[in-house]
Amino acid sequence: MNNQKNQNTGSVVTTLLGAIVIVVAFVFLLVRLATSGYFADVDEMTGPAVETRIKPQGVVTMGDGVPAGQRTGESVFNKVCIQCHAENAVVANSPKMNHPSDWAPRIAKGMPALMNSAINGFNAMPKRGGNPDLTDAELERAIAYMANSAGGNFTEPPIVADAASASAPATASAASAAQ
Ligand code: HEC
Repeated sequence: MNNQKNQNTGSVVTTLLGAIVIVVAFVFLLVRLATSGYFADVDEMTGPAVETRIKPQGVVTMGDGVPAGQRTGESVFNKVCIQCHAENAVVANSPKMNHPSDWAPRIAKGMPALMNSAINGFNAMPKRGGNPDLTDAELERAIAYMANSAGGNFTEPPIVADAASASAPATASAASAAQ
């Protein structure tokens, strides 16, 4: 009789302990779930972070620390246009560096027409060379740089330092010299 009672008490304690373990485990998992990053990480949702993740492959980044709009024609050419306009590029129809026969008919169109092609795209020529970060002035400098290698006589638009440094003329020349 006594034995029977002891056994009963034992199984009640076991059941209680089991229940407590289950509740603790459940709460633990619940906490893990709530803190497991189910919610969006704010840092990862910033515009630049998202753009980096979804950007198309093969886009040339201009991560050179030069403020937008202040790149020389040569630097824009070397970063972007060179893919298709290099002297030995294998791309069909693109006027190549140092090939006057390629450039003569393009130069004859005049800079406004060439700018229009560069800004809006022209057949296989992608808009802004495929790099939307390039400003109009940077495109014009790159066109002048390429065309001038092949008989053109264009002037690259000057590089104007931004408003903050414009008041110090020395900075403007230092900025363009640095490029
Ligand atoms: C993906 C290849 C590619 C890249 C990159 C590229 N171009 Fe071109 N570009 C072409 C091709 C191809 C043509 C010839 C289009 C035609 O005449 O059918 C062309 C033509 C041009 C022309 C002549 C347009 C005309 O009206 O005759 C200019 C100017 C030009 N590109 C400027 C640039 C500049 C500036 C860059 C760099 C910022 C650049 N391109 C980057 C492929 C490219």
